[in-house]
Amino acid sequence: MHTDRTENPNKISTLTDLLSLFMAVYLTHWSSHWKSSGSTSYGDHLLFERLYEAVSGEIDVLAEKLLSGIAGPDFSHSVMVSAASDYVTDWEFEFPDVVSRSAHAEEVLQNRLRMDFSWLESTNDLPLGLNDFLAAAANTHDTHCYLLNRRMLENNYFGGP
Ligand SMILES: [Fe+2]
Repeated sequence: MHTDRTENPNKISTLTDLLSLFMAVYLTHWSSHWKSSGSTSYGDHLLFERLYEAVSGEIDVLAEKLLSGIAGPDFSHSVMVSAASDYVTDWEFEFPDVVSRSAHAEEVLQNRLRMDFSWLESTNDLPLGLNDFLAAAANTHDTHCYLLNRRMLENNYFGGP
């Protein structure tokens, strides 16, 4: 396919995969919201709702940046959805418990945000808007990790006496 766009294809694939990861985190928290059970189910139901609602806004912002200024017509919806499905499937298999699964998803996302930010910065290809988005997302997901870790401590997910 002919294209006269000048964006680095690695940048397009990196940000498309990051969008997949946001989508997978969103779907995982939403599923956790539905599946909350036991004596803490109502609190968990509300916690997961707070988490997936925050991610929903981030997906929209990143997708619009990707489609309008970076990937344009080279963006593949099916590639993005397929990668999101792979993340969701792996996490569901690896973490049967919904609290642990959502906590793991947040940890994976935090690591990716850090890696992608560093890589884009090192290539001198990190526009101010994207820089701001990635930094703000990292801050939001610090809070999500804190909330889920507190939730896991409450129920002694980490073992101990
Ligand atoms: Fe609901």
